[in-house]
Amino acid sequence: MSDEKLKFVAFNGSPRKEGRTAGLLSVVLEELRGLGAETRLIHLVDNPIRPCLGCFSNSPEECEPRRCTEGELEDAMKGYHQLLLYSDGVIFATPVMWFGPSGLMKNFIDRMTSLENAGKLLDGRVAGFVVTGDEDGAMQTVMQLMGPLSEMGFLFPPYPFATSLGFKNVMEDREALEFARRLGRNLYRLAGILKKKDFNWWGM
Ligand SMILES: Cc1cc2nc3c(=O)[nH]c(=O)nc-3n(C[C@H](O)[C@H](O)[C@H](O)COP(=O)(O)O)c2cc1C
Repeated sequence: MSDEKLKFVAFNGSPRKEGRTAGLLSVVLEELRGLGAETRLIHLVDNPIRPCLGCFSNSPEECEPRRCTEGELEDAMKGYHQLLLYSDGVIFATPVMWFGPSGLMKNFIDRMTSLENAGKLLDGRVAGFVVTGDEDGAMQTVMQLMGPLSEMGFLFPPYPFATSLGFKNVMEDREALEFARRLGRNLYRLAGILKKKDFNWWGM
């Protein structure tokens, strides 16, 4: 269906649901909705998920989405897996915590491993990043997220991040707001192009 709306899900890894990260993220989501996308916002702090149990290190066969999220091990990650699979694009938003993503966000990325291991199930989705901090480490945090997500099959538009450092009120950081709007627009553009192509990037 060519007129189906593009679907984006955003995961906020800040424990502060009304903090700076959420503020900057809201600008990206507003831009996406303005362009006609359907958006969904998840605050990871609302439903903490257990840590990855490292099944992959026992044997790759043990690292599998159903095993990771069903039965005794069921938690909110089951729904997050569905949202990820259903989406055309994902925004990963986090404050800088000691020069990297928050623990909430890192844990979430680890729990995406089974989707990657079971056949690159997130292949071809687009991703972007929103990062806020007080003084240092925003770009380092973006890079720490981009690497694993690239290996999971995500694609990034040009300028795939909006970062803000040192602003108590992120809405006063005009450059960050511009990056956030640009990010929304470019995520929408790239997801639209890729949807029409329906590539399998991993398959040979
Ligand atoms: C545990 C912790 C570690 C932090 N480490 C850093 C850091 O390494 N670099 C930095 O610039 N800010 C650091 N900060 C500050 C936050 O990144 C900053 O206040 C951020 O904008 C808060 O986002 P929020 O309002 O969405 O929670 C840290 C904050 C906390 C709580």
